[in-house]
Amino acid sequence: MNEQNASNHADQELVAYPEGTMEKLISLSKRKGFIYQGSEIYGGLAGTWDYGPLGVALKNNIQNLWWKRFVLDREDMYGIDAAILMNQDVWKASGHVAGFADPLVEDLKTKKRYRADHLLEDYVEKTGDEKAHPKGLTLQQMDALIKEKGIKSPEGNPLGDVRQFNMMLQTSVGAIQDDSSVSYLRPETAQGMFVNFKNVVDSFHPKLPFGLAQVGKAFRNEIAPRDFIFRVRELEQMEIEYFVRPNDWRESFDYFQNEQKDFLINTLGLDASKIHQVEIPESDRAHYSKHSVDHEFDFPFGQKELLGLAYRTDFDLNAHTTASKVDLSYFDESEEDATKKRFIPHCIEPTFGLGRLLLAVMANAYREDTLGGEPRAYMKFSPKIAPILVAVSPLLKNKPQLVEKAREIFNTLRKVFPGRVAFDDNGNIGKRYRRQDEIGTPFCVVIDFDTVEATDESGAAKLDANGIALLNTVTVRHRDTGEQERVTIDKLKEMLVASVE
Ligand code: GLY
Repeated sequence: MNEQNASNHADQELVAYPEGTMEKLISLSKRKGFIYQGSEIYGGLAGTWDYGPLGVALKNNIQNLWWKRFVLDREDMYGIDAAILMNQDVWKASGHVAGFADPLVEDLKTKKRYRADHLLEDYVEKTGDEKAHPKGLTLQQMDALIKEKGIKSPEGNPLGDVRQFNMMLQTSVGAIQDDSSVSYLRPETAQGMFVNFKNVVDSFHPKLPFGLAQVGKAFRNEIAPRDFIFRVRELEQMEIEYFVRPNDWRESFDYFQNEQKDFLINTLGLDASKIHQVEIPESDRAHYSKHSVDHEFDFPFGQKELLGLAYRTDFDLNAHTTASKVDLSYFDESEEDATKKRFIPHCIEPTFGLGRLLLAVMANAYREDTLGGEPRAYMKFSPKIAPILVAVSPLLKNKPQLVEKAREIFNTLRKVFPGRVAFDDNGNIGKRYRRQDEIGTPFCVVIDFDTVEATDESGAAKLDANGIALLNTVTVRHRDTGEQERVTIDKLKEMLVASVE
């Protein structure tokens, strides 16, 4: 099937999403095995989602690229993997027990609870009254605004006072449940790095600046999980705690701000026009941050936080030094002034939510166009992150010579791209292309009789228009344009390797 000239594929710099993109993405995610509702057969559990085979593949690709870029390819970064459960004193010292909270307001009739800032945002959207925007407001200011504007619950009932709701998920460790057994499912991976700061320094003696990095689960008892996998109760973070001399914080902060943006655009392939760097006002910053810049992204449901970057100063190492009575200062051998040799380093924290990145990648990739005279929906994933890089097909599945050659090529490619090569002999070629388009496979390779036969029925050599032998060449079909080209198997490998570099 040659679709080449019939394409009106979507504009590369597309900003507007096709209508109903979120509903279509949620449906595609379930149908094609990217993301399922958590505990679905029991009616689900709010704020939890399960990743299916293609979702895991996409997530692993994003995570591996992140780990390669920020840890493996650098000499100043140390990977760790700390326990999710930590001594409750960690969370007292870090300020999370006292301050990791969201503004909660209760419907006085139904007792249902809502995020006060979300109700105010919804009110602004409905009325256009920008003065009711919650950004930067204290708890008391939100409370006053809700009362002044007469805002009701979504069910139309009166609301109670706005108060703090601690979002940590508490649990109990061991057989006896009392105050001493309290623990929490960590709300950020960061603390696992602060409490291991001394361990890594003692083992590796790193020179400043250096960072600790980790990927892992974090948990937040969100009052109102929403927007698919955007606001969830169980999430995965990829975080770096980068330690610097106090006077050098700005340089590292700016450096990581650029790194974050570059990762989004050049590694993940997100549209630059959908990314916004937003400085966070003091009133909206986390309790530990002296300066924060978020990367926000134009999701189909609005411009929302995608990545965070915070200047955590010496807040955490200081707090743990005081609370644990273990000295977490750093001895700077390169410092000539003896009085300055020992100090608590300051910390820059670039933080990445893996699920949010995956959602941004999926939303950014979703396209609708007409190809070969037929409408289609496809995922325009960058080859670097597409769950399947290439699908290999015999033209006909009942011709053993084609199947055998296709299997041979499939097995060869699989060794180069483990887990990223599919063997697809289901239905006709056109249907296979559409199926692969829908899951974002950039390349489809077809093995036909020209691949396996040197001569035609008359005994003449099979040659292309330039007189080059067709034996051992395959057709490569490109997802975005439907264009096809004939290449040798060696060229195919080169082309695929180049596509992921
Ligand atoms: N560690 C930063 C955050 O969890 O948002």
